Order: sequence, then structure tokens, then C-alpha cells
Amino acid sequence: MTTEAQSRSDALVFFGASGDLAYKKIFPALDALIRRGKLEVPIVGVAKSGWTREQLLARAKDSLIANKCFNEVSFQKLSAQLRYVDSDYHESATFDRIRSELGAAARPLHYLAIPPSMFPTVASRLHEAGLAANARVVVEKPFGRDLASARVLNETLHQFFPEEAIFRIDHYLGKETVQNILYFRFANAFLEPILNRQYVENVQITMAESFGVRGRGKFYEETGVIRDVIQNHLLQIVSYLAMEAPSSTYAEAIRDEQSKVLRTVRPMSVENMVRGQFNGYLKEPGVASDSHVATYAALRMFVDSWRWEGVPFIVRAGKSLAATCTEVMVEFKNPPQVVFKEPAPSMGNYLRFRLSPDVVIALGARAKQPGEKMFGSPVELSVVEEPEQGTAGRMEAYERLLGDAMAGDATLFARQDVVEAAWAIVDPVIHGPSPMFSYEPGTWGPKEADRLVADVGGWNPLL
Ligand code: BG6
Repeated sequence: MTTEAQSRSDALVFFGASGDLAYKKIFPALDALIRRGKLEVPIVGVAKSGWTREQLLARAKDSLIANKCFNEVSFQKLSAQLRYVDSDYHESATFDRIRSELGAAARPLHYLAIPPSMFPTVASRLHEAGLAANARVVVEKPFGRDLASARVLNETLHQFFPEEAIFRIDHYLGKETVQNILYFRFANAFLEPILNRQYVENVQITMAESFGVRGRGKFYEETGVIRDVIQNHLLQIVSYLAMEAPSSTYAEAIRDEQSKVLRTVRPMSVENMVRGQFNGYLKEPGVASDSHVATYAALRMFVDSWRWEGVPFIVRAGKSLAATCTEVMVEFKNPPQVVFKEPAPSMGNYLRFRLSPDVVIALGARAKQPGEKMFGSPVELSVVEEPEQGTAGRMEAYERLLGDAMAGDATLFARQDVVEAAWAIVDPVIHGPSPMFSYEPGTWGPKEADRLVADVGGWNPLL
């Protein structure tokens, strides 16, 4: 039996050290882990930028300042632990240098913060240099472009790493708020009798962003909204909302249930989807002037299971929308009879999870207004409410995920079958042609999407 200390990774190598992700997320995560005393091992950055170690350190410092988390003491520690290999990923000499920087470390974690097209090269070079044995590998999304390419990617990684050593990052799983969906559902008994087709009218999940592609036009042209956030982030949320109770918190118990439920989601059809592109997208740098890439999509999904038969799960996501927020709304059916005849009540009973920018778990109900008439108004019973900036103790997703990967805990990482089940859902609609509607930035997307919610009373307002 291996102990926790024996199974911890004893070094961290991150490829793509000069890149955007390292700047935005990885350096702040490393710093946070160091501050908590959870990262006391050699850290090796690898990139091909013609930089020196001092230049990488300067970049790390800039990143921490830009992320408002610079602290002299932890930065000194990071500087002492950080080494740098500036070299080409194709050359085996690069990997010899990494090995010598690793010294006595025997169980490194390799974080591939690089384009997926480079995964096969880096994975095979790691293997040839003897750096894959006993190692873990963390890979960033996208895990393929569709089901077929995801399978190829998985096969490639499996040539060099067993599944239990592969940690696929979906940073949504690292968010406290997403974990709270799972916790709130299964730590409370009162929800269980009502979270099913008997009581739930529909489920709506909205991931709205008020900004555009923020200079990532080239990347976005390769992905579009379905590959960028729906196949991964939003389907992970669907799995937490719709899955059956796991037998324990053991990683495989949770991931088994995610995989099972995603396999019951009916593959998408074009009739149940509306795609849109915001006016102005074609002028973004890196975007083709005749691009048909969607920046908005709304999908009406069905979970063909005993629990959810007939309940629409409506998922929408888009750039340049009216607000930035991610929210899940489970709307319950109306009471069986109209007892109180009052002016059309707009909101009934619901369960609401606001995932960002602020955090809310709330139950929506109706209560009588004071006065002679039996008229009511909506009230919300708030279970959890946190401001946008979060509360002490809340960990950023990347800190949480890197710490878990170092410890070998795969619960919050996407397992191969979960990723493939998610691709199987969207695969039928990402290749074929489908209508594209334009929308004005700052709106809620194309009007045409309203037809997907016409029979459930329209889009739930984002409160
Ligand atoms: C990323 C997408 O995975 O998630 C981006 O590539 C998106 O397009 C981002 O903006 C949203 O993440 P968060 O944590 O800011 O909600």
C-alpha cells in the first residue's frame, strides 16, 4: 500500500512556461501553493523563447503583480525552487536537460500547458528520456476536436501513461461553486424526492460573457463556443446536476456516475440547437472574414434516464452577451391546481445555483403579500451567498487542481470515458452545416433561440 507521502509527486515540470496560461493562471497557482506550504519540490519551467532563468522569473513576478498576489516572501521561495530549460520540444537534448534539472526526483508531474498538437511529441520524448515512468501528466483542454480525435489523443497518451496517471484539466471542476452543486445535492435529503421528472419542469444553464474573444480570435476560430465551453465546462455541470448519488467520494465512484449519466444524454440534433455569431466578430484579429464559427449556442438536451425522462435541459453560452454570469436554474412544475387566482405570477418554485461572478444557492418560492387579497410575490430563500471577490479560504481553481494532481487525487479531473461521452453528445452538430444567426453585442443572443424555451415559459431571468 502506498502512503500519501509516497504517492505525492516530487517535482513539477511545466511546459509552456513563457505562455499565456502560465502568466494568467499557473504562476499565481504555484505562488498560492507555496504560501500554503503545499509545494516544496523542484519546479522546472520549459519553453522555447530564447529566455534566461532571470527572464522567466521576471515574467513570473509580472504575473503575480498583475494578478494582485505578489508577496516578497513566497516569491523568494518560488525563485529558489524554479529552474528553467529553454529548448525545443522536438529535441531529445531538451529532455536530458530536464532530467538533470530534476536531480533526485523520481515521481515528477509534467504539466503540458502547450497546444494539443504538441502532446504526442512531448509525451514520446518524455518516455524516451525515462521521464514518463512513475510520472503523472496534466493536460489542458481541448481534449480533441470531436469524438474521433479525442479517441486518437487518448490512445496517444495511453502509449506512454496509464489512465490513472493522466489528469485532464477542466478548470470548471476546480471551482468551489461547481463542487457545491454536487455537495448540495447529495449532502441534503430534502432535494432527492423532488429532483426528477415528477417535479422538475426544466433545467436551464446559462454561461454568459459580456466580452468578446479578447484577442484570441485565432484560437476561437479553431474551437467556437461548443468546443470551447459547452462540450467540457457545461456538460460537466449537467453531469453533476443529473447524475445519481456516487457510492463515496472516491474519485472513480464520482466519475463512474458522471460517465453513466452523460451516456444517457441524447446526442444533439440540429433542430434542438440555435447557433449565433455576434456582429463584429468577423473584424476580430485572427478571424476569417467569412467565418462560420459560432460565438453563441443554445442547445435543448434530453437525459434519457428513469429520473429525467422528458425534462429539457437547456444550455446556452455566448460571448458579447448582456452580462457576465454563469447560472443554473432548476425550475419546478406549478402546483397541480390553481388555488389562488392572482395576476399572472411570473416566478414559481426553483432551485438556483449562481456559479459566477458571485456565488448563490437559493430556493425560489411564493409568499402572500400583506393585505386583503390572496396575492403573492416571489421570495428567495438564500442558502449560500458570497460576494464576487469570494471569501477567505476559497481556492482558485488552478491552485486546487494543481495541488490535487500533485497529490494524485483525480476526482476533479475529466476521465477518458467522461470526455468521450461528452463528445458523443455534441458530435452530431459540430460537423454538419446548421443555420447561423447574428446578434448584437450586449444582447442575450439571437432571438431565434427563444423557440427552444417557448414551451417552458421562456428563458429564466438571471437574477
Ligand atoms: C475557458 C474558455 O475555458 O473558460 C474561455 O476558453 C472562457 O473562452 C473561460 O472565457 C471562462 O472561464 P471562467 O473561469 O472565467 O468562467
